[in-house]
Amino acid sequence: MRIRVRNVTALKGEITPPGDKSISHRAAILNSIAQGRALIENFQRGADCLATLACLRELGVEWAWRGEDLLEIDGGGRLGFNEPSRPLDCRNSGTTMRLLAGLLAAQPFFSVLTGDRSLRSRPMARVVEPLRQMGAAIDGREEGKRPPLAIRGASLHGLNYSLPVASAQVKSALLLAGHFADGKTTIEEPSPTRDHTERMLEAMGAAITRGERSVTVDPQGYELSSLSLRVPGDISAAAFWMVLAALHPEAEIRVAGVGVNPTRTGILDALRIMGADIRLENERVWGAEPVADLVTRSSRLKGTTIGGDLVPRAIDELPLLALAGCLAEGETIIRDAAELRAKESDRIRTTASSLRRLGGVVEETADGLVVRGPQNLKGSVVSSGGDHRLGMMLGIAGVLAQGETTIGRANAVEVSYPWFWRDLEVISADKRQ
Ligand code: S3P
Repeated sequence: MRIRVRNVTALKGEITPPGDKSISHRAAILNSIAQGRALIENFQRGADCLATLACLRELGVEWAWRGEDLLEIDGGGRLGFNEPSRPLDCRNSGTTMRLLAGLLAAQPFFSVLTGDRSLRSRPMARVVEPLRQMGAAIDGREEGKRPPLAIRGASLHGLNYSLPVASAQVKSALLLAGHFADGKTTIEEPSPTRDHTERMLEAMGAAITRGERSVTVDPQGYELSSLSLRVPGDISAAAFWMVLAALHPEAEIRVAGVGVNPTRTGILDALRIMGADIRLENERVWGAEPVADLVTRSSRLKGTTIGGDLVPRAIDELPLLALAGCLAEGETIIRDAAELRAKESDRIRTTASSLRRLGGVVEETADGLVVRGPQNLKGSVVSSGGDHRLGMMLGIAGVLAQGETTIGRANAVEVSYPWFWRDLEVISADKRQ
């Protein structure tokens, strides 16, 4: 599918983003090992979270839609899964594969995790190695470095582990394995990463102890209680509208009901450092997570340096910050972000090459990007290359560039934001130049 977008004179309106992807995966997975029935409102129906649900069904978990975004799930407790009779297809979803690897390593049966071409090329040693240290029997391509992964469930023991890379997916996989292990598991992280798993496990009654950069799970064989919740809107989806409104000369966009967990608000901090006018309104709490409406107005942005602890807090939004850097005044440096090369695409390379196709001057470094602005972006023909976040960033870039931009493989957005193009059309409606 191809989409054409044009620059517009003014942008005004309100957007309700899809439910948070990370929280939706966790709500489904954790409730499937809890006891009792849970109702999850605003569950994200993007392809990644649907892949998680399909894998859970193969494992014998009972769930059903009770409304458009209302998921009912019946937890089977610690030993509620069945051995799946075929490989579990995680499709494009790294979160599905890594979290399930941790969970399945401790189940008394054999299972196989596979995915699409992008996922099958992504690094898995980061989760396989510590799980093996816990006693897991996991094999895979290149000795377990790449999917498919074959898992022979085993009795695991607790582990003290220092994560070599800041990764919430790996931390969550080890917490899940730790929940089934003998003895405590402690994970230390080099920088704080999203903590939705810890928050949810705590709310379900798990014995979780948290330090500034560490978390411990003490299993003791108890059952988790099911947790009904309303999933906050995804700040990684809201980010597209925040960047669009801040960079456009005549804009005000409100994004309603967005999760503002401090481990996820790196985009808010970075944009504010650059000079963006973003207001938080109606701050409230949904379940274990803080939520607010975010109102962004046209702003004059200045370049900045994004590195260190800010990087994991904005990891999925860094391509958007590179776009912001192209249109901001002065130099924007993104560094300490080599992890971007291990995402759905090598996002350092794909961000640089696609912004260059729009006339941007972007320097690629080993661990990030450097741009000097303001630059004139011009409409062109580009492609998502199958990466949902890249496709959406290019949609936003197309509205900010002069003339018309055609985005190929535009249906990649279905992975996390199925109605993204409709929202873009609505927010830019009747204001075309
Ligand atoms: C995610 C964690 C991040 C992020 C991904 C979702 C999660 O990945 O990029 O989109 O739900 O835990 P890493 O944990 O590998 O950095």
